[in-house]
Amino acid sequence: MNILVINGPNLNLLGERKPKLYGSETLEELMMWLENSTEGKNQNFKFYQSNHEGEIIDILHDERQWSQGIIINAGAYSHYSFAIRDAIEAVSIITINVHLSNIKNREGFRKRDVLSDVCRKTIFGKGKFVYLEALEFLTNNNSND
Ligand code: DQA
Repeated sequence: MNILVINGPNLNLLGERKPKLYGSETLEELMMWLENSTEGKNQNFKFYQSNHEGEIIDILHDERQWSQGIIINAGAYSHYSFAIRDAIEAVSIITINVHLSNIKNREGFRKRDVLSDVCRKTIFGKGKFVYLEALEFLTNNNSND
């Protein structure tokens, strides 16, 4: 399966950014761990990280023919970007929305996730395991219906 993984703003600082909340591993370590997991070994991945809303939308558009499943952690954009929401809806590819931290237990503005209604599933609060759970869900539900 061709899996597009998109990480949004500030996730390039994983490892040094609030390690108690987000873990001490870098984004690169985390993505390598995902790729080398038992589930990941049989899949094709493309990994992107961007701090820019429009770039995230461009990635969704540009990779829409290649992608068979999407895992996205849009960082703070998840809470207010209707443009990323619309892009996910427009490309019509099964998408899993993830957050490392428990967004329901933090500041009020994080409780709202505008991407969740266009995503098949939202997984949060389990650290790096949210990516693994998303991957497992995609590989077990490999159809766009
Ligand atoms: C995050 C949660 C967001 O609220 C925050 O802005 C992030 C990371 C997470 O993975 O827990 O950048 O998406």
